[in-house]
Amino acid sequence: MYLDKFKDFKSYKTETTPCKIKLSSNENPFDLPDWLKDRISEEVKKIHFQRYPDPTSSELKEVIADFYGVKPENIVLGNGSDELIQLLTVIIGDCKEPVMYPIPTFPMYQVSADIVGRRKVEFLLDENFQLTEEGVEEAVKKKPSLAFFASPNNPTGNTLNSELIKRVINQGIFTVIDEAYIDFSDKESFLDYVLETKNAVVLRTMSKIGLAGLRLGVLIGNKDVASVIDKTRQPFNITLPTQIIGKIVLTEGRDVINEQIRILKSERDFMLTELNKINGIKVFPSDANFILIRVKDGNKLHKKLIEKGILVRNMSHLPQMENCLRVSIGKPDENREFLKTLKDLV
Ligand SMILES: Cc1ncc(COP(=O)(O)O)c(C=O)c1O
Repeated sequence: MYLDKFKDFKSYKTETTPCKIKLSSNENPFDLPDWLKDRISEEVKKIHFQRYPDPTSSELKEVIADFYGVKPENIVLGNGSDELIQLLTVIIGDCKEPVMYPIPTFPMYQVSADIVGRRKVEFLLDENFQLTEEGVEEAVKKKPSLAFFASPNNPTGNTLNSELIKRVINQGIFTVIDEAYIDFSDKESFLDYVLETKNAVVLRTMSKIGLAGLRLGVLIGNKDVASVIDKTRQPFNITLPTQIIGKIVLTEGRDVINEQIRILKSERDFMLTELNKINGIKVFPSDANFILIRVKDGNKLHKKLIEKGILVRNMSHLPQMENCLRVSIGKPDENREFLKTLKDLV
């Protein structure tokens, strides 16, 4: 009885078909080098597993603050940014007030709102997956107290119009700019902007730059805002192994991560050029570590690629995403194999 409202609930789904080449979850395809894993093992061996972790993650926060060029007081850590999205959906404004976000976008904004029972103001992006003035203005009229904008957006890959995002912030709506993919973009971040603002925060994640398995998301905002949000999270949400591994990777392994990001950006640009040479597919521009393509028959191509051992994300079921597939940037040899297979299949 108590759970009846969730009987038909659609939880967040991910592609899990085992395939030789996995280009479906926008992960960094490169693992950490052995020397760094050895360093992690050394430190993990010293952990007193019977003890609770530091509830403030103070050492990790110092390192992350340095990584982003902010202060520890500006930061709230989460068990992935998914946890922070859920938390913000619970605590910002009144749950009777709706949440706004453009579609198509990252499904966790909708999933989180549905769990809490918050109304959703969804408005469509245009045919180039950009925000429109009318869309934003219509949404604002419905008096939401919370807005989510993923920029670069998932699954479309493009950066959203920052002037229109600022217009929402200027209306007093608490605005979350989810910059999960900004490490792959040369466009301007909202990071400096939110430090001076009381109703906007930025989300970042370690998941796209090599630590998806660790679950470490970061909220960055004005220190007064961050300090209140920090009071509302679970006390031990960042595990002791995560605190230790995160610290090592972002200090001793920082050059490794930066080099992997550099390679992935250059591979993304290579893939955009090569995909654009293929007749019969539409390629959308990308500032992220994935590329959205539209093909003749998305479901069929998705299946055929799996038969060839390549998993990409089928987006065909989403609004405005007919026959669209989202392809994460893999290792150079994986990208070339994908290109060759795609050319054969289309
Ligand atoms: C826009 C966006 N935000 C957040 C996330 C989730 O990140 P995390 O792994 O930190 O929970 C994703 C993951 O795909 C994403 O695409």
